[in-house]
Amino acid sequence: MNVRHFLTLNDLSRAELLEIIKRAIEMKEALKQGKIEASRQGKILAMIFEKSSTRTRVSFETAIVQLGGHGIFMSPDDSQLGRGEPLEDTARVLSKMVDCVMIRTFEHEKLMTYSKHSEIPVINGLSDSYHPCQVLADMQTFFEIKGDVRGKTVAWLGDGNNMCHSYINAARILDFTLKIACPESHKPNAQLLDEASSFVEVTQDPELAVKDADLVVTDVWASMGQEQESEQRAKIFNTYQVNSEIMSLAANKAIFMHCLPAHRGEEVTAEVIDGPQSVVWEEAGNRLHSQKALLEFLL
Ligand code: CP
Ligand code: NVA
Repeated sequence: MNVRHFLTLNDLSRAELLEIIKRAIEMKEALKQGKIEASRQGKILAMIFEKSSTRTRVSFETAIVQLGGHGIFMSPDDSQLGRGEPLEDTARVLSKMVDCVMIRTFEHEKLMTYSKHSEIPVINGLSDSYHPCQVLADMQTFFEIKGDVRGKTVAWLGDGNNMCHSYINAARILDFTLKIACPESHKPNAQLLDEASSFVEVTQDPELAVKDADLVVTDVWASMGQEQESEQRAKIFNTYQVNSEIMSLAANKAIFMHCLPAHRGEEVTAEVIDGPQSVVWEEAGNRLHSQKALLEFLL
């Protein structure tokens, strides 16, 4: 059997993605009723974090425990990875001991190298280029609140970053229109945009992007690893803030999402993120359910 990885959303077909979303919604409902389906008894998930995390770590660890398995947290500081043991060797070793590995890292290429040497599924828990697990949870949230995303309009404001890249993939697979408003200097990857050109529009004008959008999404202006550029980025992205004025241009009953952590007063105002259109807590909570469905699928 060929091992399946989840490095980007493109690793799933449209049918598989829809099935995982459906299953996530079912599992969430079951959990609410106190039913925990431990369908992956004894399965072990190793989680390698080269960057900080609250949601990704807690949701994956909770998910694997609820499935009847166990999670092992690893970081470069307290493993041989931090002392230069090659990724390829780590992949070979973990393949002999655990059933799945989740990796949060910097260069996406590291994930690709790792997965080539892994006999077990590898999940991207965020790289500099993609954050597919978050967009999986975002899509679950959209389906729950507004129904099928097909034919809908999503506005992305701010940096053409890892989250934005995963939104571009989602637009192509799930067939929605993604309107990205970003400064010319911080556009998403050109090749990715080309491949999704029938689903994605890019503008420098946030008002144009949010017009009639069903969902407005943003993210921090300085991602992990870019902390030293924070001040400069705050100036560059200054006009891309999601505030009440911007939200008023979106469709009636539009919702707001943010992968979190958020910086109130920078990319989003407190009024919006803590306001009635914001679904960020539901979105964050859905990391658990969508990743549980993903783990069930991969294992
Ligand atoms: N959204 C997200 O991935 O959060 P963490 O960095 O806390 O995992
Ligand atoms: N773009 C952000 C997402 C955090 C979940 C980052 O990479 O830091």
